[in-house]
Amino acid sequence: MENAPHRVCPVEHAGGLDNRFRRWLHHPATLLAPYVSAGMTVLDVGCGPGFFTLELARLVGPTGQVIAADVQEGMLQLIRAKVDGSELATRITLHRCGPKRLGVTTPVDFALAFYMLHEVPDQAALFTELAAVLTPQGRLLIVEPPFHVTKSAFSATLARAHDAGLTPVGTAKVALGYAVVLGKSG
Ligand SMILES: C[S@@+](CC[C@H](N)C(=O)[O-])C[C@H]1O[C@@H](n2cnc3c(N)ncnc32)[C@H](O)[C@@H]1O
Repeated sequence: MENAPHRVCPVEHAGGLDNRFRRWLHHPATLLAPYVSAGMTVLDVGCGPGFFTLELARLVGPTGQVIAADVQEGMLQLIRAKVDGSELATRITLHRCGPKRLGVTTPVDFALAFYMLHEVPDQAALFTELAAVLTPQGRLLIVEPPFHVTKSAFSATLARAHDAGLTPVGTAKVALGYAVVLGKSG
């Protein structure tokens, strides 16, 4: 069943997602290092302007791959502009998804869904696709903003993840965020 849809964060607001204050608040290397290591294939779903994508590309190193997926082409273009001509560009695949279809089939060791689930019209369908691409030991870190999402809405999100075969295996401490680490059940 579809959850109440919210509008997507417009490309014009991308500056609010990638700036000095955010870097201080959500220091990407500190936040991601526990989950990502060299050689991994990772997915940044709802990557926006790439605030976490670039750090993911550094962490996976030259033998790893990052799939940066977003429903808005404008967000992907911002990432392209940031990495164009650099070594990081060779590690990042930009992927345009549909509003109701992720459309990624590559197996991934880690997936990040940061501040994006509340914008997704059908979370259950997204979790089903994420469960299908996560490797057996793979991890999905979800973070939702308390200023847009109530505790009960976040619980409903976790219930949809559970129904798709993704259960909590840990928590993460994230400023201004409800954060849970999920893994495949069973
Ligand atoms: C608030 S931004 C967060 C961006 C990034 N994760 C961050 O933390 O900086 C949410 C992003 O999710 C994307 N998005 C919304 N619905 C989506 C969907 N169904 N599939 C993929 N991306 C989606 C939006 O286009 C937007 O770029």
